[in-house]
Amino acid sequence: MTEPKKIQGSHYSLAELRALLTYFYPHRFRMLIAFVMMMTLTGLMVSRPVILRSIIDNVTGPKDQELMLFHAALFVGILVLAMCISYWQSMMMARVGLEIVSLIKTNLFSRVLKLSLHFFNSHKVGWLISRVEGDTEQLRNFCSHLTLRIVADICLFFGVLGIMVTTDPGVAVRVMPMMIFLMILILACSKKISEYFNQARSRYAELSGSLAEYLQAIFLIQLYDRKSQVLSELQKKSLARMDAENRASLFSNAFWGFFLFMTEGVLIAILVGYGVHQVQSSLMSLGTLVMMLEFSRQMAQPLHAIGENFHALQKSAVSASRVFKILNEKTEEELIETSETKEAPALLSLGFDNVSFAYSSDKPVLKGISFDLLKGSRTALVGASGSGKSTTIQLLCRYFEPASGRILLNGENYSEFSISSCRKKIGLVLQDIFLFPGSVLDNIRVLDESISEEKVLKALDQIGATYLVQKLPMGIRTELTERGSNLSMGERQLLSFARALCMEPELLILDEATASMDTYTERVLQRALETLLRDRTSVIIAHRLSTIRSADQILVFEQGEIVERGNHESLMSLDGKYSELIKMQTSVAVSSPLRAIA
Ligand SMILES: Nc1ncnc2c1ncn2[C@@H]1O[C@H](COP(=O)(O)OP(=O)(O)OP(=O)(O)O)[C@@H](O)[C@H]1O
Ligand SMILES: [Mg+2]
Repeated sequence: MTEPKKIQGSHYSLAELRALLTYFYPHRFRMLIAFVMMMTLTGLMVSRPVILRSIIDNVTGPKDQELMLFHAALFVGILVLAMCISYWQSMMMARVGLEIVSLIKTNLFSRVLKLSLHFFNSHKVGWLISRVEGDTEQLRNFCSHLTLRIVADICLFFGVLGIMVTTDPGVAVRVMPMMIFLMILILACSKKISEYFNQARSRYAELSGSLAEYLQAIFLIQLYDRKSQVLSELQKKSLARMDAENRASLFSNAFWGFFLFMTEGVLIAILVGYGVHQVQSSLMSLGTLVMMLEFSRQMAQPLHAIGENFHALQKSAVSASRVFKILNEKTEEELIETSETKEAPALLSLGFDNVSFAYSSDKPVLKGISFDLLKGSRTALVGASGSGKSTTIQLLCRYFEPASGRILLNGENYSEFSISSCRKKIGLVLQDIFLFPGSVLDNIRVLDESISEEKVLKALDQIGATYLVQKLPMGIRTELTERGSNLSMGERQLLSFARALCMEPELLILDEATASMDTYTERVLQRALETLLRDRTSVIIAHRLSTIRSADQILVFEQGEIVERGNHESLMSLDGKYSELIKMQTSVAVSSPLRAIA
């Protein structure tokens, strides 16, 4: 079985960047207009020093008042026009950026929802959220500003250079070596600055990650009074982050300070030295000298901007790469290479035929498992922790596919049917009950509005849990807080039973809760369980003796193999692993008599 590669790190590949470009394609006309605007803006910027030259060279006395006014009006007019164009251009690109990113986000959501459990096993949810949020935001920045900004900066640089060379090659010869030197310096130092900022960012991620984990375990920290240890751990991480942040800003400020000194100081001094000599020898007008000085500053600007944006550009490339790697991840259907749309038939029998499975290739978890579940029968899976019971269930639900062997539905290979039609047959009640923010009603019918409120109420009544919703302030429409934390463990169990009952599954799979409840809740749960299981094909990872006893078939798991099978009596008379397990259970039940209710 192929395992998905982890999508991490800070590298990027051209293939993913190329994939990003396809998202730009539908917006090409707007981008073209924005580009033309950007070029016009660049042209307007370049025209300002030319007007300045004209003022200095042509407005020489009081008689030129009119000319002066004309130039001033031209100057202001250009400024206003530039502002308007800049406004429209950035609005347009901001929209394009938003549209592209919301499409990427939608695609990302829909892909993530279809990914296999393999992916979620190897990537933390927090990490995934930061990809969906952080990386797509970075892409928005890239799509709306960075791309055109960089193209415009490059155009401005070469445009100004062209005018300088044609106006006075002597100036260009003096400016160019300095520009080339600065360009090389920027490329070298931006890489270093970017590295420092990346370091600061990853330390920040480390700090906020630890903080989140500690807060989740706050009851543990308070119980064992580890507040000072946690505080010092957080302080250490915070200091490390501050150090990295300091180093990054120190280096970046020192570098840009030096850059400013070179462009505003040294370069201007060289130009003034050369220009004054030219003006004195009447080889250059004073206006041209001023224009050249302005141009040399304008040339430095795009260099500065490219250097400044280098970090953002690199971040965008890494973000794009990570986002597109997720978009290219195989969905569960693609992973098992099935495009089956055949509906699974009504369940008569479901069986494992010599099934083996491993989460990672080096450690087999299930080894040659075979069993049959017949319609209407109850099967209990028992065995030590880590023996493969939950894994068997995951395979039944088709979260994973067997590495070898087959799962057979009515004698036909499970993989010949569509995954969703197989899952529709199954009701799953896990130990770790999953509730989401929303009303009790929505939680029971899992957002499926075709299941009526009456049906939900009936299910609650059948399992004897009506009292539960009656005591809630808004009854069945009461909103649950995060993960149902306003309900007790037993209440959550009852809701999950009601949920399973509403779905009317052909096969009910249940991972029985191990935690003991109070006498009353335990009785209610027992009764609810019986209602749930009545006349239904079921597979139960059983802990309660009563559930195990009532099973038609008991499978005893040990290290990924079924070592014993049969009903309670036959297995007890075998006096093997099962009877050992039951004896252990009964001795534990002495201190918790409820576990043994028969
Ligand atoms: N998502 C996973 N990725 C890798 N290994 C896993 C994963 N889930 C379980 N395992 C490993 O597979 C083996 C069987 O686990 P499984 O959860 O099936 O045991 P179990 O019988 O259900 O145990 P328990 O009674 O404690 O729930 C264990 O060794 C476990 O470490
Ligand atoms: Mg388990």
